[in-house]
Amino acid sequence: MPNVSSQASPPLLSDRSAAVVSATAAVVAEHAEQITARFYPRMFAEHPDLLRVFNQGNQATGEQSRALAASVVAYAVQLIDPDAPSFDHVMSRIAHKHISLGIRPEQYTIVGHHLIAAVGEVLGDAVTPEVASAWDEVYWLFATQLIAEEARLYQQAGVDPARPLRPYRVVRRIEETDDVVSLVLEPADGEGLPEIAPGQYVSVFVDLPDGGRQPRQYTVSSTALGTRLQITISRLRGTDGAPDGQVSSFLHDHVEVGDLLDVSAPAGDFVVQSSTDPLLLASAGAGITTVLPIVELIARTQPGRRVIVAHADRTAQDHALRDTVMHVGRQIDDFTSYTWYETVEKADVRSVKGYMDLSETPLGDNIQVFTCGPLPFMRHVRTTLLDRGVPASRIRYEVFGPDLWAV
Ligand SMILES: Cc1cc2nc3c(=O)[nH]c(=O)nc-3n(C[C@H](O)[C@H](O)[C@H](O)COP(=O)(O)OP(=O)(O)OC[C@H]3O[C@@H](n4cnc5c(N)ncnc54)[C@H](O)[C@@H]3O)c2cc1C
Ligand code: HEM
Repeated sequence: MPNVSSQASPPLLSDRSAAVVSATAAVVAEHAEQITARFYPRMFAEHPDLLRVFNQGNQATGEQSRALAASVVAYAVQLIDPDAPSFDHVMSRIAHKHISLGIRPEQYTIVGHHLIAAVGEVLGDAVTPEVASAWDEVYWLFATQLIAEEARLYQQAGVDPARPLRPYRVVRRIEETDDVVSLVLEPADGEGLPEIAPGQYVSVFVDLPDGGRQPRQYTVSSTALGTRLQITISRLRGTDGAPDGQVSSFLHDHVEVGDLLDVSAPAGDFVVQSSTDPLLLASAGAGITTVLPIVELIARTQPGRRVIVAHADRTAQDHALRDTVMHVGRQIDDFTSYTWYETVEKADVRSVKGYMDLSETPLGDNIQVFTCGPLPFMRHVRTTLLDRGVPASRIRYEVFGPDLWAV
């Protein structure tokens, strides 16, 4: 079968492998989650040090396994199908996440070895030498592109991948709500703050009481502090028998002013481009952490740009950073705020009871949308806005976990 990649860019996959991948993509896709579910235990058994780099919550829920499977299948499909949707945003998201965790090129050999071995374990005799070689080629094309993008991002951030973390001292704790705390962090190595694009996150590594070490990502919730950065952590409570969140509970219960935390350079591409188009920032729950830095940015650099913030939460008491967002928003000429709470107290006349509904909200032309919150919330926001004629290309989203949007 001829290589069907588009004429515009040269085909990445060899003709021979393209034919094999086309013939086997469906069966690999069908078994992809089984494959990645085998891959992780294999890899951790041989490299237990990696247990301290991979989020063990995402391992327990299977979310990382699903995200990896989906990304490899989507990557293979866009190699063989010129009409497949653009893969750029997936590539960018993975590369940013990787650099925040200090992933290095040589580790791709380990991942590749265990991934291909897991394919063999699951698909058995169907994996002929040709099939193994074609999928090995897919893996290394993906890996090579990620390695190149990560090298570019490390260089841009001035980060040596061998030393991706810096110590930060907790200089203040702000109890925002019963379940949300902000930690104000100052570099403890005598160097200045890195450049932070509002909307970006850092990976924070913590040493847990059981001797384990774990990273989690937290959005830089305020960049207005000059020499300090702020993160804002929502305490994750386990429901239906699931345990409470490991790192969020640790940060809430054990981290005090004066403590040191290992923090990565800022990463992530959920950032506002300079333009004069009006902005809609639609958030729910902990997603509010992406709203404040963007409102701060606009207040500081483009106070004439129109901004609408729309937030949904359980109750007004759970709505973290509300007063700060409103305070900063007053520096923007045309700033509108809407809130929806599942439960509304009588006294809270400014908010609407129930789930966010943007079907009637005045948006004007050329709205740029940034949405952050649980996936069902963001799907609802996106559907409403698409129905109103907002182009998909104008709706950006940030998932507070492995990106399972497309799965
Ligand atoms: C880009 C990005 C930005 C983020 N920004 C923020 C932010 O600004 N603020 C914020 O609060 N969060 C943010 N997050 C989320 C944050 O990184 C953590 O995911 C969150 O704090 C929960 O971590 P945890 O360790 O407390 O929970 P985990 O221990 O990771 O638990 C996660 C889930 O897995 C379940 N689970 C764990 N173990 C098991 C098990 N054995 N069986 C069944 N279920 C299990 C838990 O019950 C829980 O529901 C962000 C995430 C990303 C990716
Ligand atoms: C081609 C190879 C690889 C692919 C396709 C890949 C893919 C992915 C994807 C899809 C995610 C989730 C991104 C998100 O939405 O948040 C991710 C996260 C991650 N990757 Fe990779 N990756 C590769 C190689 C590696 C390597 C070599 C390492 C190093 C050991 C690594 C370590 C991680 C870690 C630690 C995370 C975060 C996991 C979590 O938060 O649960 N990856 N990767």
